[in-house]
Amino acid sequence: MNLKKLALTLALAGFSVTGHAAFPEKAVTLVVPFAAGGPSDKIARDVAEALREPLGQAVIVENVSGAGGTIGTAKVARTAADGYTLLVHHIGMATAPSLYKQLSYQVPDSFEFLGLINEAPSTLIGRPSLAANSFDELRQWINENKDKVNLANAGVGSASHLCGLMLQEALKVNMTTIAYKGTAPAMIDLMGGQVDLMCEQATNAVTQIEAKKVKSYGVTSTQRLKLPSMAAVPTLTESGLTGFNVTVWHGLYAPRNTPPEVLAKLNAALRSALKNPQLIQREEALGLSIINDDRLDPAGHKKYVTNEMARWSKVIQDSGQQPN
Ligand code: MLT
Repeated sequence: MNLKKLALTLALAGFSVTGHAAFPEKAVTLVVPFAAGGPSDKIARDVAEALREPLGQAVIVENVSGAGGTIGTAKVARTAADGYTLLVHHIGMATAPSLYKQLSYQVPDSFEFLGLINEAPSTLIGRPSLAANSFDELRQWINENKDKVNLANAGVGSASHLCGLMLQEALKVNMTTIAYKGTAPAMIDLMGGQVDLMCEQATNAVTQIEAKKVKSYGVTSTQRLKLPSMAAVPTLTESGLTGFNVTVWHGLYAPRNTPPEVLAKLNAALRSALKNPQLIQREEALGLSIINDDRLDPAGHKKYVTNEMARWSKVIQDSGQQPN
């Protein structure tokens, strides 16, 4: 076979004759495993916009929601490892292995780690018609209405689900949980008064708290938000739930066996995107922090997620939650 024929055969079989030097040659897709309009979606869209320049290609966001983020994650695990389909996911990456008996992917083995994106504090919020105006009043209301209280979340293993588990354990009550495909649709029902409570990341919660469309009962992370509008909102630890800490992080992943040259380009593009001043400004305005430490290295990111898996596995075990 002459060289021209070999190149054509390889190209038809999907192999690039130029190696990966020209990557990316077409649009890159970021899969978000939750509904559009929620915190993961917002972060992915901001990152997609900031990645366009360093990658020199369009970056598209695709929402593949359901089952607490495991459906979209499984989709990326089994997609072609060519760098054109990536995953933006949060702590669900570290919690799902403790919560699902039969996942079609393994963490960390089914993925390449491209870097952690951000850390997002979370809040406990309630429907606007709740009479309680502070965490103490909420606690009393919960105790008086024990069996009737319901709590929205984004499915088993989502950040809102884990925060809800910890809250029920801390308050020694069982609430009825209602699972949505993301906290965006849950927020609509919370604002409309169809559900009572939800833990939600600052990304989505701050605007609704400021607009008084939901009530805010506390910050679930270890520190108050640095935003002037949220400065008076205490942490749940300050309100008596010692050690309560749900801080959400998001990272970028590729399927296992993505070529190293492609991974290096994607990591460099992510580093550049996270320095984008508009991105930083948008995230900081919502109380989020952009990662600027060794967790932006693939190895640091992987180590962090592995540690988080161990931490959450203990929290889940202590909560008595059985795997699905
Ligand atoms: C969650 O609770 O895990 C998130 O808010 C999911 C989402 O982005 O909708």
